[in-house]
Amino acid sequence: MNPVLCVGCTVIDFVTINDNFPEEDTDRRCLDGFWQRGGNASNVSTVLRLLGSDVDFFGMLSHAGAFRVLLDDLHRRGIDVQHCPHTEMDPPFSSVIIVKATGSRTIVHCNKNYPYVTWQDFSKIDLKRYGWIHFEARKASETIKMMRAVQEHNRMNEERIIISLDFESLFEANLPLCGLCDYVVFSKELANQQGWQTAQETCTELAHRVKPNCPSIICPWGNTGAVCLDATTQNLHNGPAYEPKQIVDTLGAGDSFMAGFIYATYALRQSLPDAVDLANRVAGHKISQFGYDHIA
Ligand code: FRU
Repeated sequence: MNPVLCVGCTVIDFVTINDNFPEEDTDRRCLDGFWQRGGNASNVSTVLRLLGSDVDFFGMLSHAGAFRVLLDDLHRRGIDVQHCPHTEMDPPFSSVIIVKATGSRTIVHCNKNYPYVTWQDFSKIDLKRYGWIHFEARKASETIKMMRAVQEHNRMNEERIIISLDFESLFEANLPLCGLCDYVVFSKELANQQGWQTAQETCTELAHRVKPNCPSIICPWGNTGAVCLDATTQNLHNGPAYEPKQIVDTLGAGDSFMAGFIYATYALRQSLPDAVDLANRVAGHKISQFGYDHIA
């Protein structure tokens, strides 16, 4: 089976575990802490590998010393980065506060104009290698050109590449990407920013805005599970959440859902409702412990 290509960012997550959310302008010790490789497409790659898929990551790498930790982790996990361009800049990072009682995660992201991969970088990749390309909705102007190149590839070749999008920010800018995809996973946080109150409403409203080239839309909605809208039948389906006994760490739950969905659809060839069910299970299992390794 051809590998999955994940296009997006990789960052360092500095995580502290706290007994409650810190008060502003106080000096305190955390209960525990760790750092790990993060970033949406980067986490999707990690979880796909743990589930047993072959994965290449395509994002901006760096020659800076601080980036070494990210590279080592990518190599250790067998995530191929051969196509990635490099910069000299220090890597982006996130400060993440986890509250022990709830497992909630609060992320402050620091990017400082770290460069994003361009369509020119992407055009050097031999797309024949891949069966699925997953994009993070980051820089729409470049991503749209990359998606069009995949569509062009699909027109010229018998083996179609499936395109998915993780849509969790910049609604207006990234909306035009949806019509070029097979699957769009839309975040609850972004739905709330649009004033959409439920996952059903989100799927229907988004479909309405993307017509006529509407992809299948999947909307995870925390502990109420996820709703999906099938592009061909227009059927809505609601899949339950699988909450663990104790919620420990919700950092990367959405990325784990995304990876579970890709794995189920691509590697296991499951139907849309079944793939959403497996995605819910992977996300539920992810939040039962810190990090990602227990998903394997
Ligand atoms: C979690 C995550 C973190 C990263 C942030 C980037 O979904 O990918 O690993 O710090 O989001 O936006």
